[in-house]
Amino acid sequence: MKQIYFTIFVFVAFTYSVHSQGVPGDTDTITNECQKISDYIETGTDYLNYSDVKACYDSIPFNKTKAVQTIETIKELLKGFYAFLDQAKDEPKPGYTFTPIDLITELDLFLNRDYSYEYEFVYDIGNLIDELRDGHTTFISKNFSYYFYQGFSMYSVIRPDGTQQIKVFDDTIDPSTIDCQVTHIDGLPAIDVITEFARNNLSYSRDLNVRFNTALASLGFGNRDFIVYGQDFSLRTKLPTVPTISYTLNCSDKIFNITREWIVPATSSTEFYPIFTKYKSSYINETSVGNASLIFDAVFSRFYTLQDFGVVLMSTESTADLNGDETVRFLSDIVVGFKLFADKGITKIVLDFSNNHGGTVIVTDYIIKLLFPNINIFPEDIKVTDVSTAFINEISNANAVGNLFNYRSYTSTITNNSFNNVDEFIGNNTYTRGGAQVKFTTKAFRNDSLDFQILPVPPKFPWTEENMVILTNGACFSSCANLVQRLAEANVPTVSVGGFPNTKFSFASCSGGTIRDSDTIRDTLSLYPNLNNLASRLTLSQDLTLRFTCAEVYSINNPDEVMDFSFRQADYQLYYDEQSARDPSSLWLQAAQYIKKQS
Ligand SMILES: *[C@@H]1O[C@H](CO)[C@@H](O)[C@H](O)[C@H]1NC(C)=O
Ligand SMILES: *[C@@H]1O[C@H](CO)[C@@H](O)[C@H](O)[C@H]1NC(C)=O
Ligand SMILES: *[C@@H]1O[C@H](CO)[C@@H](O)[C@H](O)[C@H]1NC(C)=O
Ligand SMILES: *[C@@H]1O[C@H](CO)[C@@H](O)[C@H](O)[C@H]1NC(C)=O
Ligand SMILES: *[C@@H]1O[C@H](CO)[C@@H](O)[C@H](O)[C@H]1NC(C)=O
Ligand SMILES: *[C@@H]1O[C@H](CO)[C@@H](O)[C@H](O)[C@H]1NC(C)=O
Ligand SMILES: *[C@@H]1O[C@H](CO)[C@@H](O)[C@H](O)[C@H]1NC(C)=O
Ligand SMILES: *[C@@H]1O[C@H](CO)[C@@H](O)[C@H](O)[C@H]1NC(C)=O
Ligand SMILES: *[C@@H]1O[C@H](CO)[C@@H](O)[C@H](O)[C@H]1NC(C)=O
Ligand SMILES: *[C@@H]1O[C@H](CO)[C@@H](O)[C@H](O)[C@H]1NC(C)=O
Ligand SMILES: *[C@@H]1O[C@H](CO)[C@@H](O)[C@H](O)[C@H]1NC(C)=O
Repeated sequence: MKQIYFTIFVFVAFTYSVHSQGVPGDTDTITNECQKISDYIETGTDYLNYSDVKACYDSIPFNKTKAVQTIETIKELLKGFYAFLDQAKDEPKPGYTFTPIDLITELDLFLNRDYSYEYEFVYDIGNLIDELRDGHTTFISKNFSYYFYQGFSMYSVIRPDGTQQIKVFDDTIDPSTIDCQVTHIDGLPAIDVITEFARNNLSYSRDLNVRFNTALASLGFGNRDFIVYGQDFSLRTKLPTVPTISYTLNCSDKIFNITREWIVPATSSTEFYPIFTKYKSSYINETSVGNASLIFDAVFSRFYTLQDFGVVLMSTESTADLNGDETVRFLSDIVVGFKLFADKGITKIVLDFSNNHGGTVIVTDYIIKLLFPNINIFPEDIKVTDVSTAFINEISNANAVGNLFNYRSYTSTITNNSFNNVDEFIGNNTYTRGGAQVKFTTKAFRNDSLDFQILPVPPKFPWTEENMVILTNGACFSSCANLVQRLAEANVPTVSVGGFPNTKFSFASCSGGTIRDSDTIRDTLSLYPNLNNLASRLTLSQDLTLRFTCAEVYSINNPDEVMDFSFRQADYQLYYDEQSARDPSSLWLQAAQYIKKQS
């Protein structure tokens, strides 16, 4: 249970809780402006003022020495490990929207740049890394991690005449605006503003349709209930440049402007996140969604029946908060749910993975085996550099069980057997990526046998690709992408909901694979004394975290294709409307029509 593909949004939202410890600046160096925030928090206030937070951020000056060290270390980490450093220089496949980027050259350009404030430097590097549009690869500072919220979320509908509109999904301040059309944002057409924000400021997917979906709000199953996901336009992690946004609304022909200030929660993100994502839909209660009836609640997944078909909702593959026993329970319950369907004679299944942000690959591998016992998972490899070779040698030598760098974690695709030694794993494979010759390890499958030993052996189920359909809003990331893209290669039809009109788009994003970050690299360096000589090259300042894709996965059907760069559009596109945005059962009914075997 170790090779975690970290989740995308949930990672950002749940992992950092610096605010409960304090604000930027340690006790010796804290500025007066940041001290003021600290004092407010002491009084137990729920929210901070935008202007106070800005004043604190503005009080921490740019440090050129630190900036140069930071850039050099980022370059070393990326050159040493980042699987897509070279492929990022290639033109996107049609369907994807990103600019090819030579990250090392771009980072070098920052070496001579001056800033007034540290956060400006951090944001610039973060924005540059975001240009990869690789949701696994991010750069953040724990010192600048407040959230900024508009108290307000939007969604997009396609009207019967084919035109697209932005509307108010939910409004915590003035519910009378709900379902009014948002025609303009700060005086510019709302669709253009959201699209440009999705194009330039979101990084979770190489597909602009998916980024557009996550800029807006959508309902998804998570945190044991239906909650609002996405809303990245209204819920920001970077200090907005201006204190307010104005929206022009058309409410039943009444046209007026509203202006919203940024709300900054004073508490840690773990505490505020459930509040800002809470949503009560009139179509959903504990036992039903629309006309669908809950037949089994497996905590992280739910099993419903509707008309003559079954629906499986899966919110996550993450086992990060579970101990070993709970993980076994989590996966056993999924088997129980499917078994209930089989016992009821259900032959049509909608798999709804909307807003599933990934988690642990063992969960993916297990569910693939459960549904298709005879197919292989996607193979993977890691970049071979002096740095990664040192890690592979040392960690294999220590036989760290299940570790990404231990050759014993894999089965070779060449021999269908374990590797005999490190050299066989490292191999001699050179590929041309982004015009450069790059070495990667021998392609291999994760060998899950140790993990599978403690998991239940599922019964033989009666279904094939003819009996299922996959439904997502494209925000099926990481381990989730690995799962649904593999099922799609086994010919399960796919449906994605949302995006732009008449544009079939990705049903999953960021297939991975396994990620590492500068904190885990620092831990590894201190755990293995033989790697100490790399410490000065690879150790980033404690307040900064660089996260990156370490392993890449390949298609099975097209073995040379790296999944992250392979545009896979869904077979079918659905749209949200006023009802289906709040009643997922309406989408289930539409998706069920695309199951190949209808009786
Ligand atoms: C940033 O945060 C670290 C703790 O993570 C703290 O030691 C440091 O003083 C902070 N830096 C600034 C400039 O506030
Ligand atoms: C926020 O600013 C307003 C005025 O803009 C002020 O009345 C209020 O007291 C401030 N609140 C905090 C927590 O600073
Ligand atoms: C600037 O950063 C360097 C390296 O992190 C550090 O040693 C130095 O104390 C910092 N300077 C100031 C003025 O904070
Ligand atoms: C709303 O604000 C915009 C500027 O952001 C302005 O051009 C427009 O006239 C305003 N509309 C109304 C109805 O007040
Ligand atoms: C969006 O990205 C652009 C380009 O990186 C940057 O200049 C701008 O500040 C970003 N805007 C927001 C709201 O983050
Ligand atoms: C406002 O919305 C109505 C439909 O709800 C539409 O008929 C009307 O043209 C819209 N007005 C403007 C100025 O967009
Ligand atoms: C949930 O909704 C269904 C259908 O509207 C209704 O039959 C059922 O009693 C409701 N259950 C609860 C617990 O409210
Ligand atoms: C539930 O089914 C009834 C009867 O077929 C139908 O009238 C109603 O619109 C359905 N409700 C939803 C939310 O789909
Ligand atoms: C490995 O297994 C695959 C099927 O999974 C098979 O097609 C291939 O021939 C096998 N290769 C070897 C060397 O046995
Ligand atoms: C997978 O690893 C186990 C030991 O953990 C080993 O016994 C088994 O042979 C391996 N499977 C393959 C196909 O290499
Ligand atoms: C690696 O492959 C290249 C050509 O693909 C070959 O020239 C070289 O001898 C190989 N090296 C080893 C150690 O096998």
